[in-house]
Amino acid sequence: MVCLGNICRSPLAEGVMRHLVNMQGLDWKIASAGTGNWHIGQAPDQRSVAVAKTYGYDISTQRARHFTVNSFDQFDHILVMDKNNLKDVLSLAVNEKQKQKVSLFLTEDGEVADPYYDNGLFEPVFKIVEARCKQLIKELK
Ligand code: 4NP
Repeated sequence: MVCLGNICRSPLAEGVMRHLVNMQGLDWKIASAGTGNWHIGQAPDQRSVAVAKTYGYDISTQRARHFTVNSFDQFDHILVMDKNNLKDVLSLAVNEKQKQKVSLFLTEDGEVADPYYDNGLFEPVFKIVEARCKQLIKELK
């Protein structure tokens, strides 16, 4: 799960996905990272931690990572939150196999809006992320 800062959107996707996957007894490795490196090692944004907690998910112990070229070979699917993330991630790929792992997290060209500068976006972003994670598990199973 990839976004820009790895403190708002992709930590929600990581935490929700891991929780749901574990509930189903699936042995999938889930992680998140940011295309930017400003927040490496930091906990998720308090607003993401809070909205996740409201809906029963604890993302507070996750820590921000930076997406690098090494990340491609560690995962089968790289799901990005918006089209800028898509461009940035694809620009790091060194071969076609790596490029083919990358897609938008949402279907139909959709983007998960960046809530960083808008407190009111955290809850709608959470709901979109949770719904898509449920759908993704069905698709990937
Ligand atoms: P995210 O949100 O990409 O969903 O984690 C952002 C977090 C931090 C910044 C931008 C977006 N930032 O500019 O520091």
